[in-house]
Amino acid sequence: MAAYVLNTWYPVAWSRDVGRQLTCRRIVEKDVVLYRNSCGQVVAHLDMCPHRMLPLSLGRIRQMHSGEDALECSYHGMTFDGSGACIRIPGQRIVGSPAVQTFPTHENMGLVWIWMGEPALADPAQVFDLPQYHDENWSAVEGDALKIGCFYLNLADNLCDPAHVSFVHTSTLGSPAGEDVPVQFEPTSTGLVTWRWIVDAPAIPLFQKFGNFSGNVDRWHYYHYHAPSIAVIDFGSAATGTGAPEGNRSDCMQIYACHFMTPVDENTTIDHWLHVKNFQATDQINQQLSEQFRIAFAEDKVILEAIHANERRHQNPRPVRLAIDAAPMRMRKLVQSMMDSEALMQAESTNQQTGQRTPQPELAPA
Ligand code: FES
Ligand SMILES: [Fe+2]
Repeated sequence: MAAYVLNTWYPVAWSRDVGRQLTCRRIVEKDVVLYRNSCGQVVAHLDMCPHRMLPLSLGRIRQMHSGEDALECSYHGMTFDGSGACIRIPGQRIVGSPAVQTFPTHENMGLVWIWMGEPALADPAQVFDLPQYHDENWSAVEGDALKIGCFYLNLADNLCDPAHVSFVHTSTLGSPAGEDVPVQFEPTSTGLVTWRWIVDAPAIPLFQKFGNFSGNVDRWHYYHYHAPSIAVIDFGSAATGTGAPEGNRSDCMQIYACHFMTPVDENTTIDHWLHVKNFQATDQINQQLSEQFRIAFAEDKVILEAIHANERRHQNPRPVRLAIDAAPMRMRKLVQSMMDSEALMQAESTNQQTGQRTPQPELAPA
């Protein structure tokens, strides 16, 4: 089993896909069953009855006398309320406190977010938000849930790596003008941002199709990574000479391409993607834009799945490191440090319960 950050909000499903039917998803190697209760809130349980381990997703939603929704197992009828507590065992009284594990959820930006870690730490105010998503001067268009056959950190590598765009996405998001432009990055409060500007060059194919640029443009790419599983790519163009690199983006075409990654297991990631742009468009244009993204992300999928296959075939291949790898390597360290903190917290909590002292990491001599 791979290791995962658990005390974080992960996207688990599009809100549009969770309704009054039972919906299964797999995340951090656990199967969960989701449904929307009669109040409209999303309930998420471990998809396994504590009796004989039957997936609860084979059961059904029942409305109890109280009016509350509950989930009934389809094997012997054990029934669980929204908190996971067992409220009915047919033919007998309830003994002990049988329950099914239940996960906090919250909805934002068209997605259901789930907290797979310590429930007491789940704070809905920490769910990721992009303010422009809600701004009437911008428009948001939901994309797909793209299944990619790789570990989610390999996709995160790709999303901290603007340099690949010039080679992988030549018909949509990239152009040869960017091939030799260096990439820079810096840490942020939630992760890191990797960026580069390609100044005074032809517009990329996507902006040639949908923008009104008659001459060369100044183009930016800011890859905002929020650890561990969110990447928002701010990219856009303005006519060369209008001062965009100096901060004047009053007349530009700007898009946030959002990637909300669900780490399914070490071989699978779901990329929930959408875009938010600083102009309105018809449904037809929106669909055409989404189709361009669909083409581009399918190109990433090919690359990432081929890498994953090679990584599995060749253990410890000792990769050559390039300057462009600095940001992905920092990203990996950041995720590892989050997992280390959780492990330490877990050890301290266990030791408090058993009365033992947690060994602290040794300090290096001053
Ligand atoms: S397996 Fe669920 S009630 Fe028996
Ligand atoms: Fe890409």
